[in-house]
Amino acid sequence: PVPVDFQAEQARIHKGSVQSNHSGFTGSGFVDYVNERGGSVEWIVTATATGRTDAVFRFANGSNAPRPTAITVNGILVASVAFPVTNGWSDWRTLTVHISLLTGSNNSIKVIATSDNGGPNLDKVTVVLPPS
Ligand code: GCU
Repeated sequence: PVPVDFQAEQARIHKGSVQSNHSGFTGSGFVDYVNERGGSVEWIVTATATGRTDAVFRFANGSNAPRPTAITVNGILVASVAFPVTNGWSDWRTLTVHISLLTGSNNSIKVIATSDNGGPNLDKVTVVLPPS
């Protein structure tokens, strides 16, 4: 099994934009959610097996309050997670959620902002593939 990176700037973005104004991101940037509820970042992931794995989200939250989100996999809520405060917007940390994927190319992993502050800045999700 190998960890595979899926960049946020290459995901489907709703109510957010790709930015690069805080250092330390991987790839070419990160997603900055608008400060509203309902914004989302959705990755489509191919899995060659059905099973459980970890989704490791790399994020920064330089605000003064956690940023609550709903994380869905294939449309099903798998976690309600508040991304904690970090030491500024260039302090990138990870948050891990256990998920299950299905064999095939259409797995959706989606992080939806559920407060008026929007989501954290999101750099990428790393998924250990194949699931086992
Ligand atoms: C600041 C910061 C952004 C961040 C935003 C927020 O504007 O520069 O990167 O996304 O706060 O509150 O979400």
